[in-house]
Amino acid sequence: MTAEIAEEVFGEHFETISRYVDILSSRGIEWGLIGPREVDKLWDRHILNSTAFSGLITPGATVVDVGSGAGLPGIPLAVLRPDLQVTLLEPLLRRCNFLSQAVDELGITSRVSVVRARAEDHDATYEVVTARALAPLGRLIEWCAALMEPHGVLLALKGRSAAGEVAAAAADLARRRLTADILTVRAHPRAESTTVVRVA
Ligand SMILES: C[S@@+](CC[C@H](N)C(=O)[O-])C[C@H]1O[C@@H](n2cnc3c(N)ncnc32)[C@H](O)[C@@H]1O
Repeated sequence: MTAEIAEEVFGEHFETISRYVDILSSRGIEWGLIGPREVDKLWDRHILNSTAFSGLITPGATVVDVGSGAGLPGIPLAVLRPDLQVTLLEPLLRRCNFLSQAVDELGITSRVSVVRARAEDHDATYEVVTARALAPLGRLIEWCAALMEPHGVLLALKGRSAAGEVAAAAADLARRRLTADILTVRAHPRAESTTVVRVA
């Protein structure tokens, strides 16, 4: 069912995203980046979840996916949105090797690059900073504020903890003159919803 929804969401890019799902469910498991129990949930929990916030990203934006891991949300976003220039930022060598190989095999090297670094050590700015399953919002802001262009946004994929995390980060947000909105988005009317904290 969710693969059918994904087919509607990805349209002409469905074959490419299917190849990425194949990579995650084979090499991703062999390399220990995806748990074997995740295989049945790849489309729903990982692919559709990763693209639910695509509508919040302006055409042609530069995007950095911080703590990309196996490429989530950066790779599904780049496949769905060929207009974006996406940097996958990941400190661990093994994960960077996985990412580079996947990007190469998917034929998206012209618009996706892999950079091995921690967020706080990376010296570049982007219009959009994305993060999923990386750190609580306060720490994300500390790590990622310097990566945001002056009018850039941080889009953090969060679960039910979103409101608590925004409240806990209130002082940090105010000190940096940033605001945070909690948004509920979905990749498709029949897909599960995702909570995004948008910091601007
Ligand atoms: C739990 S994984 C999440 C991976 C992916 N975003 C996902 O949703 O599946 C967190 C990732 O963040 C990376 N990471 C940890 N600290 C980081 C930092 N300071 N800057 C950038 N990445 C970091 C880790 O190496 C790991 O790959």
